[in-house]
Amino acid sequence: MIKGKRILITGGSSGLGLAMAQALAANNQIAIVARNQQKLDEAVATITKVAPGASVKGYSIDVSGPTSQQALSAVADDMGGLDMLINSAGILREGYFSELSDADFRDTMEINFFGTVNAIRAVLPHLKASKGRILNIASIAGITGVFGYASYCSAKYALMGLSETLRFELADQGVKIQVACPPEFDSPMVDALDKTRTPENRAHTLTIPKLTIDQCVAGILSGLNSNKLVIIPGLQTKFLAFSIRHFSPISRLVGTIKIRAAMRKGS
Ligand SMILES: NC(=O)c1ccc[n+]([C@@H]2O[C@H](COP(=O)([O-])OP(=O)(O)OC[C@H]3O[C@@H](n4cnc5c(N)ncnc54)[C@H](OP(=O)(O)O)[C@@H]3O)[C@@H](O)[C@H]2O)c1
Repeated sequence: MIKGKRILITGGSSGLGLAMAQALAANNQIAIVARNQQKLDEAVATITKVAPGASVKGYSIDVSGPTSQQALSAVADDMGGLDMLINSAGILREGYFSELSDADFRDTMEINFFGTVNAIRAVLPHLKASKGRILNIASIAGITGVFGYASYCSAKYALMGLSETLRFELADQGVKIQVACPPEFDSPMVDALDKTRTPENRAHTLTIPKLTIDQCVAGILSGLNSNKLVIIPGLQTKFLAFSIRHFSPISRLVGTIKIRAAMRKGS
């Protein structure tokens, strides 16, 4: 149970970040960060409806922007310090490698990866002072390649490397770091993806069923109580991650079969 903590959630106006904020708001002080002010205001209203009387504030900050570090540090100051940073801000650009633009790669990297680097740099002094913790939201796409996710997987793999490395560097400074690798779950990001995604991506990602957002939050919250660096929500996702790690030729073969079947259907 996380209780009495000051928690900053990037990407807190939507999807997983918002659901985490809702789950944690009753017992903690919450700051949510995203770009769109109207969505932030709506999210604050939603959270306080679920947790009446909760301490929740929204801050409009682009985590990939040049002044994001000062702005995020000011949020932590405003909260009187910080005990936990959740990095959920992210975007997804799906498509065939030949059709993804350089900007798709750069934007995905800037927000998903550098946005996380910026947030960690900004609040690390606060987390050292409180012996706090960091939760990065990566993806199952951070431990295996996925058809159509050339830019997204690149950013999520980078996030895994960052998390693994900081675990060593921050351990002696009293800051705990974990990284969550959810499979696909229901969210506005996936609603948008569903409108344009390639059939091969749909077939490959849905090798295991989608989680509901509540299942995803429950899996992450229970993982936070463990000492595991990598949190994998969902039983089938855990099985998939195990197969990827220990039987990679087999899991690649299953992926290839699914993708080829989708290609045949499309042609
Ligand atoms: N949905 C899935 O199936 C799935 C699976 C695995 C992992 N994930 C990861 O889970 C995280 C949350 O995904 P989601 O599905 O909940 O997405 P979502 O509903 O689209 O929410 C993304 C959030 O990030 C914010 N954001 C985007 N760019 C930002 C920026 N430059 N600066 C600050 N905030 C920014 C968005 O608000 P603004 O647009 O207003 O800034 C929004 O609050 C992401 O990191 C995603 O990669 C998702």
